[in-house]
Amino acid sequence: MESFDVVILGAGAAGLMCAISAGRRGRRVLLLDHADEPGKKILISGGGRCNFTNREVRPDNFLSDNPHFARSALARYRPEDFVALLQRHAIGWHEKTLGQLFCDGSARQVVAMLLAECAAAGIVLRCGCRVTDISRGDRYRIETGTGSVTSSSLVLATGGLSIPKLGATGFSHDVAARFGLALTPIRPALVPLTFGGDDGAIMHALSGVSLPVVAACGGARFGEALLFTHRGLSGPAILQVSSYWRQGESIALELLPDAPRLLLQRKRARPRAEARTVLAELLPARLAQALAERHLPALEIGNIPDRLLRQLAGLLTAWRLTPSGTEGYAKAEVTGGGIDTRSLSSRTMQSEKVPGLFAIGEAVDVTGWLGGYNFQWAWASGWVAGEAA
Ligand code: FDA
Repeated sequence: MESFDVVILGAGAAGLMCAISAGRRGRRVLLLDHADEPGKKILISGGGRCNFTNREVRPDNFLSDNPHFARSALARYRPEDFVALLQRHAIGWHEKTLGQLFCDGSARQVVAMLLAECAAAGIVLRCGCRVTDISRGDRYRIETGTGSVTSSSLVLATGGLSIPKLGATGFSHDVAARFGLALTPIRPALVPLTFGGDDGAIMHALSGVSLPVVAACGGARFGEALLFTHRGLSGPAILQVSSYWRQGESIALELLPDAPRLLLQRKRARPRAEARTVLAELLPARLAQALAERHLPALEIGNIPDRLLRQLAGLLTAWRLTPSGTEGYAKAEVTGGGIDTRSLSSRTMQSEKVPGLFAIGEAVDVTGWLGGYNFQWAWASGWVAGEAA
């Protein structure tokens, strides 16, 4: 039977980084994945350019039932550490917007870099490897499709449930629960929202229209783009608030913050203009037309009472909508919730109760905003676990 110091389950962002950090310390590391190649989510991330981190990473960019948990790991492995790694491998990068850092070339370079670091650290990587059972005596014993291995440390790094067609599973959650670790409820996060009834019908008709908005939910506000879809709403602003949304709650959209002043000012200045024409000067034409049909009589703006214009302005400054649901794990960028951080050490990611058991990355109840935060959590939690495993 083969024996290792550390066995890591899942060769995604967190598992690869954990392997590098443990391997550099001279630990004998086996990195296992059931997929045919490592880092598949890195490859498809950021439209193929991998938004690998964010310059502005702060603990409050992350959701968790235990909000201070991420602080220690994020402070010990920082965005500049990952940038320095890219620079050592001569991989070009650039800042897009809102502190988001992307590769100039391809996400494939990031995976190649991580694999080169793994090779340099002597990591044994096995892809296409199914784990059939795990038990713990003096050491962990991991049964795989190709034989049994033992280790003194076991790292759960199989991510969350988002994008099942890429091989995502709840494996880490199941193993954690089997070893007595608590879980927080899981849900799709960074996910498009769906709508029924009249709202759903309007969104369907507006599918493809996009505009900058401020979207708010659960005390969080994001000023980014919104996109109408066949099933409801998407775009960065919506993906961000979706992580805060819970079934039955509403979200608020600010489409035109200055609407009250703009509408009344234009009524005074150009009373003969059609109301929908005026609205189309302020909003995308298809949206303006749909809102005018629903909320205004087909009249010149000068003939529309101020009361109606103020009502429409109220909608444009705080459109309250109640989603019927989300597009689910098939479209979610990440999984919210997961292994309860209250059962882990924030310095090492090791279980407080089960010696040698670690959990990192998306499998853990730490969910980042859109914009490189989730990879930074994967790198940071993987790195600190590798220093202790
Ligand atoms: P990850 O999912 O990366 O890795 C888990 C690994 O475990 C996989 O290799 C999987 O095959 C393996 N595995 C699963 N079940 C297993 C089992 N039973 N046995 C063995 N192996 C198993 N984030 C960001 O910061 N910037 C971005 O640009 C993007 N873009 C993006 C695009 C899309 C389309 C998605 C779906 C997600 C993103 N993300 C992102 C989120 C980011 O990809 C995600 O948070 C990290 O990949 C999480 O890293 P982990 O290593 O925890 O899981």
